[in-house]
Amino acid sequence: MNEIVFRKATPNDAQPITDLVNLGAGEKQLLPRSLEYVRASIENWIIAAESSRIVGVGSLFDLSPILAEVRSLVVAPEHRQDGIGADIVNRLMDEAHARGISTVFALTRAVSFFEKQGFAVTAKENFPEKVWRDCMTCSLQDACDEVAVVKTVGSRQSPDKSAISNSQF
Ligand SMILES: CC(C)(COP(=O)(O)OP(=O)(O)OC[C@H]1O[C@@H](n2cnc3c(N)ncnc32)[C@H](O)[C@@H]1OP(=O)(O)O)[C@@H](O)C(=O)NCCC(=O)NCCS
Repeated sequence: MNEIVFRKATPNDAQPITDLVNLGAGEKQLLPRSLEYVRASIENWIIAAESSRIVGVGSLFDLSPILAEVRSLVVAPEHRQDGIGADIVNRLMDEAHARGISTVFALTRAVSFFEKQGFAVTAKENFPEKVWRDCMTCSLQDACDEVAVVKTVGSRQSPDKSAISNSQF
């Protein structure tokens, strides 16, 4: 494997991010996202790149000043089990810390993966109603097999000014 570089996404990354997320959506592991959605939320994304090719992505979506969701986490199939997914999650947790977020959760079928990153299984009902906005458009909403996992973010006195701007939400 060549060197993998992790960085915040830029607008030029929107198309390859969308392509990778929708590849994962094709595997029925996460929701599809439009190019417009990715463009509008580009400041929330972290990418892993091998040379100029994006091989892993994930985003942190704020649901309130203290709660955020790890969303659209996916690694290119040929790069799985190389530690890229774990690294992206760690960086999203750092980002949550910088924003002053106290709790991060995910809805996932990759429960063991998240448990290895320090998340614990919890009840979906623990999260506010707006969490379910995405579910309203999902064909599996009445037979959802995703599990909620949650992790507390390390304490911090006040949000870091270098935190990714999330003002569009
Ligand atoms: C889930 C996913 C992002 C993990 O990324 P990855 O780079 O392959 O994972 P890592 O190599 O960092 O794995 C870290 C650990 O989790 C384990 N793991 C990886 N994928 C797993 C999965 N799908 N289910 C359970 N455990 C998994 C690994 O074996 C590894 O264990 P170890 O520390 O004991 O060696 C990747 O498999 C993927 O893109 N899957 C399809 C999309 C998806 O399911 N996204 C999650 C939606 S929330």
